[in-house]
Amino acid sequence: MKLWNKKKTHFPLLVFVFSLFLVFSILHNERNILQIQENPDRATRHQIPVTYVKPNRLSHHNHAPEVLDRFSTCNSTREYSGRKIAWTDHPTPEYGRRRESLESCNVFSGKWVFDNFSYPLYNESECPYMSDQLACHKHGRSDLGYQYWRWQPHNCNLKRWNVIEMWEKLRGKRLMFVGDSLNRGQWISMVCLLQSVIPADKRSMSPNAALTIFRAEEYNATVEFLWAPLLVESNSDDPVNHRLNDRIIRPDSVLKHASIWENADILVFNSYLWWRQGPVKLLWSSEANAVCEELDGLGAMELAMGAWADWASKVDPLKKRVFFVTMSPTHLWSREWNPGNEGNCYNEKSPIEFERYWGSGSDLPTMSMVENVLSKLSSKVSVLNITQLSEYRRDGHPSIYRKFWEALRSEQLSNPPSYSDCIHWCLPGVPDVWNELLYHFL
Ligand SMILES: *[C@@H]1O[C@H](CO)[C@@H](O)[C@H](O)[C@H]1NC(C)=O
Ligand SMILES: *[C@@H]1O[C@H](CO)[C@@H](O)[C@H](O)[C@H]1NC(C)=O
Ligand SMILES: *[C@@H]1O[C@H](CO)[C@@H](O)[C@H](O)[C@H]1NC(C)=O
Ligand SMILES: *[C@@H]1O[C@H](CO)[C@@H](O)[C@H](O)[C@H]1NC(C)=O
Ligand SMILES: *[C@@H]1O[C@H](CO)[C@@H](O)[C@H](O)[C@H]1NC(C)=O
Repeated sequence: MKLWNKKKTHFPLLVFVFSLFLVFSILHNERNILQIQENPDRATRHQIPVTYVKPNRLSHHNHAPEVLDRFSTCNSTREYSGRKIAWTDHPTPEYGRRRESLESCNVFSGKWVFDNFSYPLYNESECPYMSDQLACHKHGRSDLGYQYWRWQPHNCNLKRWNVIEMWEKLRGKRLMFVGDSLNRGQWISMVCLLQSVIPADKRSMSPNAALTIFRAEEYNATVEFLWAPLLVESNSDDPVNHRLNDRIIRPDSVLKHASIWENADILVFNSYLWWRQGPVKLLWSSEANAVCEELDGLGAMELAMGAWADWASKVDPLKKRVFFVTMSPTHLWSREWNPGNEGNCYNEKSPIEFERYWGSGSDLPTMSMVENVLSKLSSKVSVLNITQLSEYRRDGHPSIYRKFWEALRSEQLSNPPSYSDCIHWCLPGVPDVWNELLYHFL
């Protein structure tokens, strides 16, 4: 704080001079950091000068930034300095533009229709890659209604799921899901949707690791999952041991993960819930002495989305398809759909019917930040806007019907809502529909 006050007194003198540099520098200058006051009103209000950092640079200053892992720590932590990510979209030629913006029907606006004739699209017990976190029937759920719902857009029909046609689209390609456990659920759903038509000796699954790969020989295709819950590099990138007190991110670099996802042909990203767990520590690439800054989750997510957008803006949409899945809703407070009730998703057996229902778990400022970033990338990234349709599905979570890693105490067992999982989704279930939407756009 003291240090910064000293800087501030010099700052107004620099504003005018540096203003002249702004555009020129971003476009032509190789300097990594340039200091400029972005918007006088805003900067005065926050008392923080804005500095732009070019993301995804291999070498900053004279050292290569150390790779973060779960043992990384901050040497010290100071206030957020106001640094932001500078990324610009690269123009896409007209021929590269995607059709869906021309499509008149919004497939994300619709309703759930009970359909136990066509659903579920696969059988829980017949998918050898099912996760014990998501296999609700196996873990005692006896009401199976959650498996029988079809998503019906208001103004058109979704393409019917056809597993052979999907495999043909994937032939010779790598489909990679990148993100957190919600995205992993969507990946498992996709593997379960796809695996049944591949003979057991013609398919394989690699051991669980940061990158896990399902392979189908006869199509020379893979369906992969990369654990990267915060998109940028972080101390939570270990696929198993990531329950840490402090969240430390490299806000200006996706390079470590991008070196893996770079080679995929179809990419499906998500990121949201990990930013909702309080302040995040920022360890900028240019920082040699492990000095961190602290920022709230939304601000930190915006930086990470910027570093990711810098990568996405360079994608050639004719060579690579990129999707971003919007936030997955939670159902932690039943009073939101059933006033006066003090439970959560536990024991919910049917979807919410109130059109446009929106719970407090889906943060609107996050949604507008994400929309703002994605709108600038609309020719390169397609949005899978699953938030509203999943909001209705209070019945789709595992609640108590999953494997819990820690033993449950007796006071928990006597009060099921206290340990219910109202975040993830049972399979077969809601993520299958997210994948039908993905199939619709491929
Ligand atoms: C589908 O649901 C209807 C109404 O609940 C029921 O009568 C019918 O037996 C069910 N069919 C199947 C195949 O489960
Ligand atoms: C799922 O598969 C199991 C074992 O093959 C079978 O007993 C069960 O009836 C199947 N369920 C459905 C809904 O098809
Ligand atoms: C299989 O797919 C990869 C790309 O994922 C490609 O490089 C390779 O040539 C393909 N092999 C065959 C035999 O088609
Ligand atoms: C922590 O800061 C001290 C003092 O600035 C420095 O000497 C030391 O090398 C730093 N440690 C790390 C791990 O960067
Ligand atoms: C997703 O849809 C909601 C309406 O359901 C809208 O408010 C939001 O801006 C959309 N998000 C994106 C990223 O397009």
